[in-house]
Amino acid sequence: MPSTSQLTSEVDKSGLRPFEKSKQIFEHNRKYIPGGVMSLPRRADPELAFECAQGAYIWDADGNRFVDYHAAFAPIILGHNDPHVNRAVADVIAQRASLFGSGTNSLEGKLAELMCAAIPVCEMVQALNTGTEATMAAIRLARGFTGRDHIIVMQGGFNGSHNDVACNVLTPLNVIGPRVSPGEYKYIPLGSGVPAPHSQLVHIVNFNDLDSVGYVCERYPIAALVTEPILQNIGIVKPQPGYLQGLRNLAEKYGFVLIYDEVKTGFRYSLGGYSQISGVKPDLAVFAKAMANGYPISALAGKRELMQLIADANAAKRPFIAGTYNGHPVSVAAAIATVERLMEGDGAVYRHMDRLGQKLQAGIESILRARGITGVVARQGSAFCIYFMDHEPRDWHDLAGHHDFARDLKMRRSMIDKGIYFFPVETKQCSISAAHTEEDIDQTLNALEDTLQQ
Ligand SMILES: Cc1ncc(COP(=O)(O)O)c(C=O)c1O
Repeated sequence: MPSTSQLTSEVDKSGLRPFEKSKQIFEHNRKYIPGGVMSLPRRADPELAFECAQGAYIWDADGNRFVDYHAAFAPIILGHNDPHVNRAVADVIAQRASLFGSGTNSLEGKLAELMCAAIPVCEMVQALNTGTEATMAAIRLARGFTGRDHIIVMQGGFNGSHNDVACNVLTPLNVIGPRVSPGEYKYIPLGSGVPAPHSQLVHIVNFNDLDSVGYVCERYPIAALVTEPILQNIGIVKPQPGYLQGLRNLAEKYGFVLIYDEVKTGFRYSLGGYSQISGVKPDLAVFAKAMANGYPISALAGKRELMQLIADANAAKRPFIAGTYNGHPVSVAAAIATVERLMEGDGAVYRHMDRLGQKLQAGIESILRARGITGVVARQGSAFCIYFMDHEPRDWHDLAGHHDFARDLKMRRSMIDKGIYFFPVETKQCSISAAHTEEDIDQTLNALEDTLQQ
């Protein structure tokens, strides 16, 4: 790991850092990898290549150290390369566990038992590898259970990259049109390659809008409603009081399966997930990201009545849910170790992150006030987003119509130049980890003060 504890490269004439070695690596990689990067949403301006990470910090190829709030799009909850998690991974390799691809093992049973004990909605659990696989499996299970095809998803929600859900996140208002309620929006795919007829099964409504859910349920046989309980792919957009209970009531009334996509909310705020915090249980929930502090694993969890269908004796009733790498011992060991760390001291990690979150939020709000800048911090525990608007958004149209996107992007770029890594794409949510310290928060606030002064 480079020994440097700060930025090494000098700013250029435009006042920005050149990030020379990152540029060279990108140029090389572009010859062999589309866009130069193995997952295109990771590419942003500035184009950075990272070399290593420890705790709250990441180092780029030029040796610059950043306080990391990106957390790899949110999995990093304990800090990068947490020693306890890494030891568990090293141990499982030393014990010569392998991907047997046959039968079961006690490790996967241990993880499943831990999850069933910690997460109220989790009566049974199935491990997969990614959030995308988990929402795909949840929707398939819901369709198999109800015998219906249509689903409801949220405008501004992101639930993975398969055809059912790869749509309508940061949709420009001139594409999506004005706010509609009660009603639904057109399916706008996130890219090409989605067969047009498929979109007829997917209904997009506003978050926090029960009337629109009722409207769609009156017109189509709905198998499932999939929602992040907090929309965290457009920052932090929280459910209004009563909204999740309203969804629960509509699920009972119309017989659809209520699915929480807890890929980002799960494990981040409490071991029991956001369903525990809100007190409103879905029928199924999917987890990933913070579950294993960065190792690839996800989980589909839920009511026994539904989950048992995965192994139903009647093949015609059984949804096909399988995967070569499901329950890989390395990821399972990492998940168990992460859960163990999160359980330490009766949730000490959560209390630490929340304290830092409070300090950061208070500091940012005071800087905004002192400079007369219109802005709010939307925060849940360790996750937060700064919006340059006068209230916390309640749905995508509210956000898109009021937030100053240009200022947001400029702020992020300037923070990077000051050694603070806010991912440089507007409204991307930031995450604090257990490894962050009061000093990191102070450094972040100083950088923001300088940034907004500029
Ligand atoms: C809420 C949510 N669901 C699902 C996914 C898809 O997860 P993955 O990228 O692991 O497929 C993401 C990814 O960011 C997400 O934020």
